[in-house]
Amino acid sequence: MRIAVLGTGYVGLSTGVCLAEIGHHVICIDVDERKIATLKQGKSPIYEPGLEELLIKNSSAGRLVFTASHKYALNEADIIIIAVGTPQSDDGQADLRYIEQAAKDLAEHIVRDSIVVIKSTVPVGTNDYIKQLIFAHLKNKVKFRMVSNPEFLRQGSAIQDTLKADRIIIGCEEIEASNIIQEMYRPLNVPFLLTDARSAEMIKYASNAFLAMKISFINGIANLCEAVGADVVDVATGMGLDKRIGSAFLNAGIGYGGSCFPKDVKALLHTSKEHGMPLSLLVETIAINEEQQELLVKKALNRFGTLTGKKIAMLGLSFKPETDDMREAPSIRISRALTALGAEVTAYDPVAVTNARQVIGDVITYADAPIKAANGADALFIVTEWEEFRKLDVKALLDVMKHRIIFDGRNCLAEEVLQECGTIEYCSVGRPAVIFKKEE
Ligand SMILES: NC(=O)c1ccc[n+]([C@@H]2O[C@H](COP(=O)([O-])OP(=O)(O)OC[C@H]3O[C@@H](n4cnc5c(N)ncnc54)[C@H](O)[C@@H]3O)[C@@H](O)[C@H]2O)c1
Repeated sequence: MRIAVLGTGYVGLSTGVCLAEIGHHVICIDVDERKIATLKQGKSPIYEPGLEELLIKNSSAGRLVFTASHKYALNEADIIIIAVGTPQSDDGQADLRYIEQAAKDLAEHIVRDSIVVIKSTVPVGTNDYIKQLIFAHLKNKVKFRMVSNPEFLRQGSAIQDTLKADRIIIGCEEIEASNIIQEMYRPLNVPFLLTDARSAEMIKYASNAFLAMKISFINGIANLCEAVGADVVDVATGMGLDKRIGSAFLNAGIGYGGSCFPKDVKALLHTSKEHGMPLSLLVETIAINEEQQELLVKKALNRFGTLTGKKIAMLGLSFKPETDDMREAPSIRISRALTALGAEVTAYDPVAVTNARQVIGDVITYADAPIKAANGADALFIVTEWEEFRKLDVKALLDVMKHRIIFDGRNCLAEEVLQECGTIEYCSVGRPAVIFKKEE
């Protein structure tokens, strides 16, 4: 099939590459010409494991092409997938300006009957709205049908998640269009759920809101565990063993970030208020998360009395491991809070420093190795649970620090590792602080 993908961000690029991998001819379009130039050179503009290999493989095979020209890309497409951003507006609702522009671009350039698939996360009713918008701006006499096909990939495992998705949601009232989209995905051998467009749109928001709520729930329980002397890791393990609950998204920590959960929860809350049935559960989900992002700062403030002049080594900047995405990363809020309190922050991240510089700026210093960040530090903050941090030579870091204190915001250091480190104060989330003492 000949497919055009509008938007080569995390979703559009992963989708385009994977559809080429299963044999389709894919043209990816982006308005960002620098991105397109990078992609044409066989380089991925984002860090995503496995993406660049498939990009090179499928570009070389002639199945994957990149362009900044809508005219060129839409000339032969049977299926057009819209995967542009839907960020958050100031009032919390989804900002549809990019998808509206994509719809107008598309309306101007389609020259043949086609299926328009909305993969971006959009509020309920947007498929209908975009259909009307395209229709109103259509330049040529062609027929098009709309399909809602929300995306569920996770950054950091986007390729695996696309190739081995749990389900593919196809929201469309027209059987023929639905059948064609099922055919497009058929080689993936993933179960389909066929529904109407509004339900498909709602499935995406309800899923993200539920996962965010699970995180905020366990974080609320974590704070209570600290107050009553329980261990949230054991509590979450015990809860997760119950099949009705499941263990995923029950890791207590300093809260969720990223390009989806924060904005999607707020957008769903906005929709619920708009329809006169506010989901107060979401209000709490957001409030707990915002408070949780400052937890390490509060703990450090309690420990030291003041943070003025204190040197903090921060490990992890990206909002989660295996990505360089800094959107809504807890490290942003933590950096700002620490520097506002007079602390000096030196941060290390395996891949996100370039993006972090653009968001956090030079109010903090960046190091190219954990040991350099730790040098002379009063405390070490672990903000993102990169796998390499679990394998750190923690003792070597502590040996170059001024004080042997760790605030682990992701509960990712193992007790056995800490016990080998000599004297150390270890504060994590949802568990009592521990002082490991060196045996004389
Ligand atoms: N990132 C995720 O993990 C994820 C997961 C599931 C769903 N989603 C949803 O998918 C959508 C895309 O997210 P993303 O993270 O890939 O966004 P992104 O910001 O990484 O990428 C969007 C891309 O679209 C391009 N673009 C904007 N207008 C365009 C136009 N008119 N024509 C062509 N290209 C255009 C931008 O230049 C950008 O490269 C959002 O609605 C998001 O909520 C994201």
